[in-house]
Amino acid sequence: MIVDAPATKIRITALSKTFGAAGTGVRALEGIDLTVRENEFLALVGASGCGKSTLLRILAGLEAPSAGEVQVDERPVTGPGADRAVVFQDYSLFPWLTVLENIRFCRGLRAHRGAGTTAEAASAVDRSYALLELMGLEASRDRYPNQLSGGMRQRVAIARALMSRPEVLLMDEPFGALDAQTREVMHDLILYLFEVERTTIVFVTHDVEEAVYLADRVVVLAPHPGRIDSTHAIELPPPLERNQEIKLSAPFIAQKRAILDRIRATSSVQRDLETVRRLARLGKVTGRAAAAG
Ligand SMILES: Nc1ncnc2c1ncn2[C@@H]1O[C@H](COP(=O)(O)OP(=O)(O)O)[C@@H](O)[C@H]1O
Ligand SMILES: [Mg+2]
Repeated sequence: MIVDAPATKIRITALSKTFGAAGTGVRALEGIDLTVRENEFLALVGASGCGKSTLLRILAGLEAPSAGEVQVDERPVTGPGADRAVVFQDYSLFPWLTVLENIRFCRGLRAHRGAGTTAEAASAVDRSYALLELMGLEASRDRYPNQLSGGMRQRVAIARALMSRPEVLLMDEPFGALDAQTREVMHDLILYLFEVERTTIVFVTHDVEEAVYLADRVVVLAPHPGRIDSTHAIELPPPLERNQEIKLSAPFIAQKRAILDRIRATSSVQRDLETVRRLARLGKVTGRAAAAG
């Protein structure tokens, strides 16, 4: 039997990004080589400032690289496109539109630009109802964003992102502003829609548990300059068989620990902490330690 290798969806080659002048500017990313397979769920983690958001914005076409290239389906990314949708931490909904109107408001849709056919417009309407149902928003379809909880607002933002049937869903700490219980619900919802929609997901987070729970593969970035430190294939049951209990299992904890170890090893905060501890041992930091010494 011949098994096709999974197709490459995103190919990042020798990518660098410097903000400001070469030599003196901030080296946000340097020498990034990475491929993402079709229908893979890839999580990017790493200390604050290691370039996660910059990399995601380059994939979205919102930022241009200083060197190197990104290809999606073997075509170079030169700007935003309907094949890639982005969800950010702040919900970015239009406050004057209802839930349903927000979902339908999708710049990529030809029907909205008056260029589409009646059939396209009808299928967009069908799609918006299907997404309302998928995200559990039917009862709230006529509400305005300020009448919704944070979790519901983010579900609307995700539904809107899915409206154009993107090949790639790019998410930058989408649940960063939500409380712990709402996040857990969102995690299981994301796994469900990942199965149903069969899209490729690149998911930025600083929450390692979130990354291990959701992703097929976790890439750790290291800061100064932003670069790939390590890549971790996650061995867990398939998405729809995962549940919150898994987080207490030995394999889950081992994978989480391995990734946390890498983040700590590459984080300057950790070095600062070690310096503080060393000075404290020498009695040089706190008055109490000095007095005791
Ligand atoms: N528009 C910008 N101008 C200048 N520096 C930037 C800009 N965007 C990001 N940076 C810098 O690039 C580095 C990476 O930032 P970012 O991608 O936001 O990291 P992360 O999302 O991992 O926290 C940081 O040092 C940040 O200060
Ligand atoms: Mg960021």
